[in-house]
Formats: sequence, structure tokens, C-alpha cells
Amino acid sequence: MVTSALPYANGPLHIGQIAGAYLPADIYVRYKRMCGEDIKFICGSDEHGVPITLRAKKEGIDPQELVDKYHFLNKESFEKLGIDFDIYHRTSDPLHHETASEFFTTLHEKGVFFEKESEQYYDEEEEQFLADRYITGTCPNCAFERAYGDQCENCGISLSPKELINPKSALSGNDPVLRKTTHWYIPLDKLQKEFLGEWIESHKDDWKSNVYGQCKSWLDLGLHPRAVTRDLNWGVKVPLKKAEGKVLYVWFDAPIGYISATKALTDKWEDYWKDEETKLLHFIGKDNIVFHCLIFPAMLKVHGDYVMPENVPSNEFMNMEGEKISTSRNWAVWVHEYLEEFKGKEDVLRYVLCANMPETKDSDFTWKDYQAKNNNELVAILGNFINRTLVLCQKYFEGKVPSRMDSNDDLAKEISGFGKKVGDHIEHYHFRDALNEMMNLARLGNKYLTDKEPWKLIKESEEQTGHVLNVCLQIAANLAILIRPLLPGTSDKIGQILNFSLEKLSWKDIGSVDIVEAGQKINEPELLFQKVENDVIEAQIAKLDRSGLDSNDSKNNNNFKPMINFEDFSKLDIRIGTVVDAEKIEDADKLLKLTIDIGSEKRTIVSGIADQFKPEDIKGKQVSVLVNLEPRKLKGVESQGMVLLAEDDEGKMTFIVTDSKMKDGSVVS
Ligand code: 2FM
Ligand code: ZN
Repeated sequence: MVTSALPYANGPLHIGQIAGAYLPADIYVRYKRMCGEDIKFICGSDEHGVPITLRAKKEGIDPQELVDKYHFLNKESFEKLGIDFDIYHRTSDPLHHETASEFFTTLHEKGVFFEKESEQYYDEEEEQFLADRYITGTCPNCAFERAYGDQCENCGISLSPKELINPKSALSGNDPVLRKTTHWYIPLDKLQKEFLGEWIESHKDDWKSNVYGQCKSWLDLGLHPRAVTRDLNWGVKVPLKKAEGKVLYVWFDAPIGYISATKALTDKWEDYWKDEETKLLHFIGKDNIVFHCLIFPAMLKVHGDYVMPENVPSNEFMNMEGEKISTSRNWAVWVHEYLEEFKGKEDVLRYVLCANMPETKDSDFTWKDYQAKNNNELVAILGNFINRTLVLCQKYFEGKVPSRMDSNDDLAKEISGFGKKVGDHIEHYHFRDALNEMMNLARLGNKYLTDKEPWKLIKESEEQTGHVLNVCLQIAANLAILIRPLLPGTSDKIGQILNFSLEKLSWKDIGSVDIVEAGQKINEPELLFQKVENDVIEAQIAKLDRSGLDSNDSKNNNNFKPMINFEDFSKLDIRIGTVVDAEKIEDADKLLKLTIDIGSEKRTIVSGIADQFKPEDIKGKQVSVLVNLEPRKLKGVESQGMVLLAEDDEGKMTFIVTDSKMKDGSVVS
């Protein structure tokens, strides 16, 4: 069971969302389907909560009208982009209301919740309680000035309105007043002690470190009870007599949307939610970590009937042109607009977003980079290899697949190695590495063609030329399978031109060198990718609306990591050391192998700085070294620590040094 976060139906989708939660899930699911696994991929619109009612108010329409508009627009965008959900459901559907209501009732009957009257912020002018996004203020954790009443989107911490510094009503801008109201709470503090703390700890090694790290820091701060109901009239009604005028908190009902969507998809929905063998995965962006790793698992566990998530592969954020993507400030590439303006280039966007996927840290989408990746990689490497192969085959063999001279077992082995490597990367959610490995097969094809020079060989031997082109055609066919999870449209095109059915092939067929049969006719070549010219890119850059940005949006500004305590900090053992040797690592453009004297011993450290520093310039330098970082192998070399560097907005780096020479081994604290 694979889920991608249900996007709010309060606006169109932007590329950051696609790169964060949808494309990685889609690649994963497509790959798993090709491996023959029984897998369901679920998504839908999140149609409740303040993001919806606020936007509807702004547009002067009914919430239902608003969600209808964006539900269908977003559903279509996903389809066109090839994000292949088994179902795209919606939380305003009666089946969802029923499912969420039952879920609440079960927990209520089990005595999980406690009921409490408290004072909450209220906007007297608007006559409304101010929960969640109805209230904004400064984050107590990271000082971000536009944190919401339920969460700070800058550092991801989950909040309650009373924790905000300088709170203001998002409806009127007024200072709120306090008023009494009753709500139902889930005791996360108690559940942390009972199982959540231990459960998160059990995933220390198999979850991505950004995900585990965020959970751990919240647990260290201690979880608090959280209200699961709200004073609103838009949402799933609280199924209790005395709860007139109250609805479920959107973050209580939304994840249950995964279950109701599965119900809508299949009568066998329980197989995917209640069977111990089920592997449940939630693909999300980092702002959703707290809800998917702590709150929803707590709900599932106390309910008792459901499996717990096995993994929550969350990504960081994608910025655009150096600024934070923002729906409210119109700073984004909107997916529906891209699809309209770049018809036939759906796979190009998938490729560029995957290449820049914010897997371990925030990334940046720029139009110049889009152009470069299209022109220098898709056109020049993948497209070029396929096109050269097809053109030569038409030219010398009238479009018929020529015969090979031997079975070529070595080639088969080499190609199947790509299947293994790409598969491993996808299984570990390393989608950028998977993309690189896919392109390496195209690179190998290009090199083979260049080395064999069939355009010269044809003058000597038709048989040998035929052999070379047969090999190239087999590589092309294998590429169609290998790139299929990432570039499904391109894969289909290659299959159509080479006249073979990809539907019948599975992942384990990668490595077969008999996919296209000798004698078979291939179709007229068609360019897989076209160059993107400067004027197209310039038009997109000119279209960007900078008017909504302010100086606070700069990606480095305020974008602090979650708070840690002194104990966390004191775990870092940072020492001063001298670089006694530095050399390049073969086949790794960016890596340098450094030998660093840290006083008591010498350490080998691999550092990704080869594009900024020459080995000879570093030797003799004193640097700061994190010496108790777990060793890690990079390009076969064990790295025993990390050299600390500062990096600016442009990616320029400098070492963290002391202002006078120190004894090697001196402690930094
Ligand atoms: O952040 C968001 O866009 C939320 N609508 C995600 C909800 S995910 C799930 F729980 F439904
Ligand atoms: Zn914050």
C-alpha cells in the first residue's frame, strides 16, 4: 500500500509538490509493478480544513465549489504527468465521511480521547474560533514570522495557537481574544511513553535520516495532547450528540482518506490495510512528517485493526530560482500551466524534477537548469543514442533488425547489472542515483557506437556492422525497460518504434539481448526529445511574478533546522586537524580523498569538494573535522569523518578554520 500525501484542493499543483511526494512514489510504484508485486497506489484531494475555507472566502465562493474546481484540475494534472494512481479520491466523498466518522467513534468508545474545556483564540469581528491556519504568528521554535496555528512550515514543528508569538487572526488581521470551548484530545504524551517513542527508535536505521531526525527531536521535546476536533462548519461532523457545530480536525480525517480511497477502489481493501504482510508506505514532503510519523501511526495503533507504516520516505523542499515556492505569493511553476505550454514534454519535467529531487536537502529548480538537463542530457545522451541507432539501422539495413554474430553473454551480464543497480536505488528511495544509473546505460550505448564506428565498419563488413547495430538495438530495448518507471512516455515511444510490447516485459527481463528479434522491421525513427531554445526559457523567466516576494523568502533566510538541545549538540566531536594529503578519486568528479592528521591519529576522509578545490591548494591547511561520524564508503573508499565547510547561496564553499594555528586534535565546542 503506497500513499502520496493528499494535496489540499485549494489551488493548482506546483512542481515542488510533484518532486516531493508524487514523482518518487510513482517511480517506486511503477518499478514495483514491473517486478510483479501486488501494489496499490492511493491519493486524492484533501478537501477539508482551514486551507480550503480560507481560500473559498478569498475567492468569494462556497468551499464545495472551490474543491470541485481544484479536485478535477489536479486530478487531470496528475494523469497528464503520468502519476499513475490506482485511484484519486476525495475527502468530501460520503464514503470518506463515513469512514472517518467510524474511526473517531471507535477511538472514542475505546476511551482514547479526553474531553477538555479550554480558552481558545477567537476573532470577535468574524465571530469565529481561530484554529490552525486561521491564526498566524511567529514560530517559537525557529522564529519564522508566518507560522500557522497548527504548524510552522519553515521548521515543520507542530504547534498549537497558544504557542505562537504575536498571534493575529488570518481572517481580519485583528488581535484575537480568548473564549471558552470544549474539544476532544488525543493524549500524544501518553502514547509517546506507551509505544511511539520505542516504535520510532525501532526505525532509526531503516528510515531516512531526515525523517528519523525530525521525529527524534520532537520526541525529545516531548509530545503534547492534541485536539482532534474544531469549531468549524466545514469538514466531517463530530459523531457525538453534544458536539453540535464541531468537525474533525483536518489532520485527523485526511490520513483516514487513504483508507476510504482504498475502500472506494476495491472490496478487498482490508488486504491492504489489515494484513500483517502489508507493507504500508507514505510518500510525503517534510512539512507532513509529524502527521505521518507520529499522529497517524498513533491513531492506527490505538484503533488496533490496522498495520503501521513501514516507512515514510519524506523529501525536503524544492525551491524555485533561489526562492521558496509559495502558492499564496504566486511563486511557482504550476503543473497545469506547464502541461499546457509544454505539450509532449511531460517526461522532461519528470526527468528534471527527479534529477533535482530534494532527497536529503532542499533543492532548487531553475529554468536554465531545466534547459541544460533537457539539451545536454535527454537530447544529447539518451535521445542521441536511440536516434543514431535507429537512423543507422534504417540506412544500412532498411529498417530491419540485423543479426548478431554471437550470443554476447558479457553484454547481457553488463546490462542486467544496470537493472540490479537501478532497482536497488529505487528500493532505497535514492531516485537521483537511479536516474544517473539509467543514463549510464545510454552513455554506455553512445560509447559503444563511437568506439565501433559502424559508419566506417560498413565499408569493410556488413555482417560486423549488423552485429554492432543489433547490440545497440538490444541496449535501446533494455533502456526502454530501465527508464520506464521514470520516463513512461519515452519508454512507450521506444517500444513503438522498435516494435515490441513493453506490457509483456518485466524488470527481470533487463539483461535480455533478444528483445528485438533479427529480421523484425522497426518503425521510422522519431526524435524522442527536442532542444529547448533560449527564447522559451527566457519567456518562462520573464513570466515569473516577483511582486509577491519579500526579503524574508530568500531560501537561506530563517530556514533553520528544528531546535536541538545541548545534549544533541554535545554528541558532535569536532576537532582541528591538518590536511597532510589530498588526491582525486577516480571516476568521481566531485570527490577528493583527504588524509587528515587529527593529533592522535590520521584519518581518511572523502569530501565532495573537487569542483571547488585543487588537491595541491588544500595540503597543509588546518580544518575542522567531525570525527565521530559513522564511517561510510564512497566510491570504495571508507570515509572516517567529515570536514566542515560553509556554503553560500551560490554553492561557493570555504573551510571552517581557526584564526591562528592550533594543535591538531584541539576540541571545537
Ligand atoms: O500538506 C498537505 O497538502 C496536506 N493536505 C496533506 C495531507 S496528507 C494526508 F494525511 F492526507
Ligand atoms: Zn518554525
